[in-house]
Amino acid sequence: MFTPHLNDYRPLFVGLDAQIPLLDGRCYRYTNLDNAASTPPMKAVQQAVNDFLVYYSSVHRGTGFKSQLSTQAYEQSRQMVLRFFGANPSDHTCIFGKNTTEVINKVARRISLAGKRNIVLTSGMEHHSNDLPWRAVANVIHVGLTADGMLDEDDFDAKLARFTDQVALVTITGASNVTGYINPIHRLAEKAHAVGAMMMVDCAQLAPHRLIDMLPLDHPAHLDFIAISAHKMYAPFGTGALVGRKDIFEHGDPDMSGGGTVEIVTLDHVVWTEPPEKEEAGSPNTVGAIALAAAIRQLETIGMNQVARHEAALTRYALERLQAVPSLKIFGDSSPSNVEDRLGVIPVEITHLSHFLVAAILGYEYGIGVRSGCFCAHPYILHLIGLSSEQAAEVRRRIIEGDRSDMPGLIRASFGLYNTIEDVDTLVKALFDVSTGKYKGKFIQDKVTGEYSPVGWQPDYTQYFKL
Ligand SMILES: Cc1ncc(COP(=O)(O)O)c(C=O)c1O
Repeated sequence: MFTPHLNDYRPLFVGLDAQIPLLDGRCYRYTNLDNAASTPPMKAVQQAVNDFLVYYSSVHRGTGFKSQLSTQAYEQSRQMVLRFFGANPSDHTCIFGKNTTEVINKVARRISLAGKRNIVLTSGMEHHSNDLPWRAVANVIHVGLTADGMLDEDDFDAKLARFTDQVALVTITGASNVTGYINPIHRLAEKAHAVGAMMMVDCAQLAPHRLIDMLPLDHPAHLDFIAISAHKMYAPFGTGALVGRKDIFEHGDPDMSGGGTVEIVTLDHVVWTEPPEKEEAGSPNTVGAIALAAAIRQLETIGMNQVARHEAALTRYALERLQAVPSLKIFGDSSPSNVEDRLGVIPVEITHLSHFLVAAILGYEYGIGVRSGCFCAHPYILHLIGLSSEQAAEVRRRIIEGDRSDMPGLIRASFGLYNTIEDVDTLVKALFDVSTGKYKGKFIQDKVTGEYSPVGWQPDYTQYFKL
């Protein structure tokens, strides 16, 4: 049914052969299918960090050799990020921050939302990080979704037409962290610009899997801002980046002030420096920036088209195989033929079992890491599982009382570049066993967290890592 056209990228990654303990006493190779949350480091990243640490020193104002070298490496990383996303350094800036969440919050605090243009148009499929920061500063309108959870572009058009001269910014996820759907970001950008709004794309999910081109500012379909997290791009050293319009940050005060943000300070006056330094208060995460640049270089060497092909083949295979698991429901698009327009993020449930329990069995008995719950996208999950507002209110009441035992949610398997056909087979076999009651352990639920753990057993983590 499937002719895999896959390369083995495993040798490029750190820790994939690590053995972990299972409930039955065996040690087993871990199968990580939680890449939408965080990805393991690439060896090229580990190597770059190790090489750099020998020369690591303060950046920007240090005068010694190591400081100069560190400054050069930090700034070179910035240029590599700009280039990777098709940004033009004379119009765009790259501002490093902790992660996608932090840099989206920065844009929310820095763009002008005063006066008539105070609407931010986002969608019902966003991660909380591209929803809550806007609620704090703007009049937020959510674009609706189709029954199977895609962005409803008719509703997008209708809302844009209705609020034409009030929309300051459209901000949409490039790809969903729940269903893997990829949104038509450039088409939406063109529509946003036509009414005078700016376009931001949350690229936390999209960036590790597809080539993103911001396009020149005078292109009607350009992106004004994108946000990324390096820990989802095989460079988990605490960095994220905002790539976006420099002019927006040239005006006004930075959202956070302190060392590095100024030209000159007297007791009664401050002259801010230029972006990006103006927006990076305090000592930056130089190691994180270098790690991100090393991951970008490795992804460029492989080629993002090849990354997309590999992951599409895995996703197609997984969707085909999962159909055979009894009582398993796939949410969103389950068709193996539509894998070009989506990522390898697959949300499922086993209809008669709690998602918390399924995730626990996969972890403790099969050594498979997935995620269960609502994936920081509560409104989207409620939409996908079809919870009424009365049912949602009841869930809210129970959570406030400290009872998450019936918390709605799904199980999410998400692929990265290094995953293989064998990883998919391991998942499908495990889900088959779980669904047909073939698992062996006894599990007990913690009502407060909702999570299950095996009765009478806990791994000794200090055998594997100790400080
Ligand atoms: C679509 C999307 N946006 C934003 C985020 C937030 O990323 P971070 O936690 O790195 O800030 C995530 C994380 O899962 C995500 O999937």
